[in-house]
Amino acid sequence: MNIVSEGKTKKVEDLGTEVMLHFKDDITAGDGAKHDVLQNKGAICSEITARLMKYLNEKGIYTMYLEYLPPNKIRARKLKMIPLEVIVRFKKAGSFVRRYGGNEGEDLPSPLVEFTYKSDTLHDPLMCVEHLEVLGITTKEIAQSIIQQAKEAGNYLKEFFESHSIELWDMKFEFGLDLDGKVCLGDEISPDTMRLRKSGEIFDKDIYRRDLGNPLEKYEVVLKLCQSIDL
Ligand code: CDP
Repeated sequence: MNIVSEGKTKKVEDLGTEVMLHFKDDITAGDGAKHDVLQNKGAICSEITARLMKYLNEKGIYTMYLEYLPPNKIRARKLKMIPLEVIVRFKKAGSFVRRYGGNEGEDLPSPLVEFTYKSDTLHDPLMCVEHLEVLGITTKEIAQSIIQQAKEAGNYLKEFFESHSIELWDMKFEFGLDLDGKVCLGDEISPDTMRLRKSGEIFDKDIYRRDLGNPLEKYEVVLKLCQSIDL
């Protein structure tokens, strides 16, 4: 197996013009300071990612998703990843509240997209579009296209979860460029990367961040909802 990179939660196997993502059972928080292994997490998060990306593909969003291989693999388009975390917020929470104040769960007047630079050592600093250009991370045009696609994808996911009576507060996307240089949604979409709430009930990684027990019970509820999306 030609593993070309290994992150905190995924291994990437090179298949030539495509890749195979192997989702691991690891869960981390606080830039990797907190780390555990939860059996079956890779299977749950890969299936949720596969089904949500399939849903987005059908809505016209260009994603990496090609095929789900149970229990924990996704065959995907090969992308040159842009080292950014693209956060879409519908409600105030997490680092937004720490930085700008307000209360967890308060509505934002309109959806907000933020860029942070993917670097555990620098603690993922917030970046403006000008930083991206000047530091050579990406062009203004690509940044604008990412903002547009992130908002669209965020809105479709919000609609999906709303139809299952769950609120999507915020989420993190990662984008890359495909072999033709086209912007494509990659990485993962799972309760590890979104805040999902239902009147005070938490269905996402905040269960782990706040030591509220084993998060997989709630991740499985999310998986069941996503199984309404055909693969
Ligand atoms: O979660 P935290 O307070 O550290 O950061 P945030 O900026 O409020 O996170 C916004 C959303 O992006 C949440 O749904 C996080 O789970 C997700 N996120 C992520 O998936 N990976 C990161 N490294 C940072 C945030």
